[in-house]
Amino acid sequence: MAMGVMILLWSFVTIQMMITMVSAGDEAALLAFKAQVSGGGSLASWNSSSDFCSWEGVTCSRQTPKRAVALSLHRMALTGVLSPALGNLTSLQTLNLSFNGLRGNIPGSLGNLHLLQNLDLSDNQLQGSIPPGLGSMQSIQILQLARNNLSGMLPLSLNNLSSLETFDVGSNMLSGSIPVDIGNKFPHMEVLNLGANHFTGTIPSSLSNLSDLVVLILELNRFSGYVPPTLGRLGVLQELYLAENRLEANDEEGWEFITSLANCSA
Ligand SMILES: *[C@@H]1O[C@H](CO)[C@@H](O)[C@H](O)[C@H]1NC(C)=O
Ligand SMILES: *[C@@H]1O[C@H](CO)[C@@H](O)[C@H](O)[C@H]1NC(C)=O
Ligand SMILES: *[C@@H]1O[C@H](CO)[C@@H](O)[C@H](O)[C@H]1NC(C)=O
Ligand SMILES: *[C@@H]1O[C@H](CO)[C@@H](O)[C@H](O)[C@H]1NC(C)=O
Ligand SMILES: *[C@@H]1O[C@H](CO)[C@@H](O)[C@H](O)[C@H]1NC(C)=O
Ligand SMILES: *[C@@H]1O[C@H](CO)[C@@H](O)[C@H](O)[C@H]1NC(C)=O
Repeated sequence: MAMGVMILLWSFVTIQMMITMVSAGDEAALLAFKAQVSGGGSLASWNSSSDFCSWEGVTCSRQTPKRAVALSLHRMALTGVLSPALGNLTSLQTLNLSFNGLRGNIPGSLGNLHLLQNLDLSDNQLQGSIPPGLGSMQSIQILQLARNNLSGMLPLSLNNLSSLETFDVGSNMLSGSIPVDIGNKFPHMEVLNLGANHFTGTIPSSLSNLSDLVVLILELNRFSGYVPPTLGRLGVLQELYLAENRLEANDEEGWEFITSLANCSA
C-alpha cells in the first residue's frame, strides 16, 4: 500500500517535472530569441517576473503544459537576427515578425515547426538563401517572405509543402527557374507571388493545374518564351501580372493565352 502511494507520488512528481521542463523549453527559446534582437524597448514585458504566456506578442494554448502557439511581433521596430532557438517552439501555429528590421539568415530550424500554419517574415532585411529545412513545415498554409534580400534558388524541398495556400517571395533577389511540375504539387494554392526577383526560364504550363489560383504574380523577372495558352484553365483567377519579363508573343500562338483567359470567370 505504502509502496503504491510512493509510486503514485513518484509518477506525479515526474509528470510535474516534465510539464515544467516543456514550458521552460518555450520560455528559454523565447528568451534566446529576445537575446538576439533589440529595438523599441518592445520586449520589456519579456522578463521572468511574469509567465511567458503574458509576454507581449505571445499567445499560449489553454492545455497544460502551456505552450506558445503564436508569436506575433508585427511592426515593432525589432532589429537583430533570428535565433535558431525559434525552432524549439514546436507548438507554434503562427509566427509573424513582418515589418521589422531583422537581418541575417532564416534559421533552417524553423523546419522543426511541424504545426506552423502561418509564417510571415516579410518586410525585413533577411538575406541568404531559403533554407531547405523549411520543406519540413508540413502544416504550412501561408508562407510570406516578401520584400527581403533573399537570394539563391528555391529549394526543391518546398515541393513537400502541399498545404500551401499562399506562397509570397515577391521583391527579393531569388534566381533559377520554376520547377516544371510546380502546378502539380500545391492543390490548394490561391496566391503565388514570385514577382520582382531574378527568375529565369519559361513559365511552366503545369501552372494551369493550380485550379484554386486567384492571384499569379510573375512580373519583373527574366522569364522567357511563350505564356502557356492553358493558363485559361485557371477558372477562378482574378489577377495576373506578367509585365517586365522577356516573354515572346510575336505570332498567333504567342497571344493564344489572351484568348484562353477569356475562359476565366472573373
Ligand atoms: C533548443 O533545443 C535544442 C535541442 O533540443 C537544445 O540543445 C537547445 O538548448 C534549445 N535552446 C534553447 C534556447 O532552449
Ligand atoms: C517586467 O515585465 C512587467 C510586465 O510584465 C513590467 O511591468 C516590468 O516593468 C518589467 N520589468 C523590467 C525590469 O523590465
Ligand atoms: C502578420 O500580422 C500583420 C498585422 O497584424 C497582418 O497584417 C498580416 O496579415 C499577418 N500575416 C499573416 C501571415 O497572418
Ligand atoms: C542584399 O544582399 C546583397 C548580397 O547578397 C548585398 O550586396 C546588399 O548590400 C544587400 N542589400 C541590403 C539592402 O541589405
Ligand atoms: C522533402 O523533399 C526532399 C527533396 O525534395 C526529400 O528528400 C525529403 O524527404 C522531403 N521531406 C519530407 C518531410 O517530406
Ligand atoms: C495536370 O494534371 C493532370 C492530372 O493530374 C496531369 O495529367 C497533367 O499532366 C498535368 N499537366 C501538366 C502540364 O503538368
